[in-house]
Amino acid sequence: MEIIHLSAECYPIAKVGGLGDVVGALPKYQNKLGHVAKVVMPAYQTKFLRENEFEVVYDGWGKLGFQNFPVRIFREKTNKLGFDVFLVHIAGLMDRENVYGYGDDTERFLAFQIAVLDWMAQWEHKPDVIHCHDHHTGLVPFMTAYCSQFRKLSSVPTVLTIHNGQYQGQFGWDKLHYIPPFDLWKAGQLEWQGAINPLAAAIKCAWRVTTVSPSYLEEIRYNANGLESLLSQERGKSVGILNGIDNEVWDPSTDTMLYKPYGIKILEAGKKANKEALCNVFNLDPEKPLFTFIGRLVGEKGADLLPDIFYSALLQSNGEMNVLVLGSGDPQVEGRLNHLKEAFPGNYNAYIGYNEQLSHQIYAGADFLLMPSRVEPCGLNQMYALRYGTIPIVRRIGGLKDTVIDIGDNGFGICHDQTSVWDVGHAIDRALELYADAKKVKEIRKFMMQLDHSWDKAAQQYINLYQI
Ligand code: ADP
Ligand code: GLC
Repeated sequence: MEIIHLSAECYPIAKVGGLGDVVGALPKYQNKLGHVAKVVMPAYQTKFLRENEFEVVYDGWGKLGFQNFPVRIFREKTNKLGFDVFLVHIAGLMDRENVYGYGDDTERFLAFQIAVLDWMAQWEHKPDVIHCHDHHTGLVPFMTAYCSQFRKLSSVPTVLTIHNGQYQGQFGWDKLHYIPPFDLWKAGQLEWQGAINPLAAAIKCAWRVTTVSPSYLEEIRYNANGLESLLSQERGKSVGILNGIDNEVWDPSTDTMLYKPYGIKILEAGKKANKEALCNVFNLDPEKPLFTFIGRLVGEKGADLLPDIFYSALLQSNGEMNVLVLGSGDPQVEGRLNHLKEAFPGNYNAYIGYNEQLSHQIYAGADFLLMPSRVEPCGLNQMYALRYGTIPIVRRIGGLKDTVIDIGDNGFGICHDQTSVWDVGHAIDRALELYADAKKVKEIRKFMMQLDHSWDKAAQQYINLYQI
């Protein structure tokens, strides 16, 4: 089959969070199964663009409302990622340093989607499926179905994967003219709660809808930032497919970003060496249990509670634990996390910012990884932690519920029910108790590292879905 993935992110080209990891891996695993999966994404001003070779495959003009914009599409020449990647260059709109966060994101991603469809409508053949990821590509199912200029693509099935239903990309009806001409009777398909809602439009118009874990599919019927009833209504065409991880990128035995790569045979020595090096950099004591958090500092991740969680845990433990945070997001949370450094020097540190290499070093060097998420459609961090022998401490929600089993149930992680300072504090107490039992920790680490969360299974599940 030929599968075209449309996405705003794709690792290692551009990554803000897990979406980038998924789109950087799933197509590779689909290709390994004998299919032809390709990625089409915007050309941002990234290192990848500057450091690789490309050929131009398309030059044209797109139209956004009353404005024309030039489009150039490049293909990466070497197939080094394990799939063909096409970068859509739109001067003035897409060629910026960041992926999101601009006042004109609506215009940017609409122009991107229109440009892609203009291009695809000119292909001599049709792909077997167009797979859209999140709201940035959410108008594609509507436009292929109803816009006259994309009629050629109207028979191509579209699949929407919801990575995060909290973000929907809504905009006002004053921007309706941005969407290329379509049968106005169909305007209702764009609408949700009085606005044009790209995620809702995709849920309505896509042939199939998937969520990134089975539990999240159940949860969004009750908690989806206003889309609950729509998702319940469209349940019949929806399926939850648990994300995998890229076992080649996230392999502690070959990971060149680590201080010392380690496999299962030298697990204890490997973790010790990485922990020592990490603690050395962050002025922490490697003899003490190291707790960490890696992620976007936003409410969904429970990040606003982290300062209080760490303050009370560090105070209670009397200096017998260490904490290291890697993240960026809400400036207030960033400030409070930075402040804690002064209160607990030698026991607490934080790197506020984005640092891919450091994230690998922390998965390898830490003992415990906290994920007190309020919402977690899948979560990849806990799966990386498992592969690197780091015990996850997670709230029982979404994909965390589907991937982590509590030690009390013969599992390998520590689970708690609520995103609260009390619940997480209690989970940390349990972790400290566990840490005191070195033999048990060793056993759990060994077990976790052998769990298979690779994309092999999920890549096949998506293929099965396309073929129904
Ligand atoms: P989400 O997509 O909601 O942010 P996921 O758990 O699916 O959450 O994926 C997060 C990804 O982003 C992981 O690869 C994680 O290691 C990475 N990540 C998050 N924050 C940072 C950071 N500050 N520095 C480096 N990597 C980060
Ligand atoms: C989203 C979700 C996260 C998920 C990721 C990849 O960003 O917040 O839980 O793992 O997408 O699907």
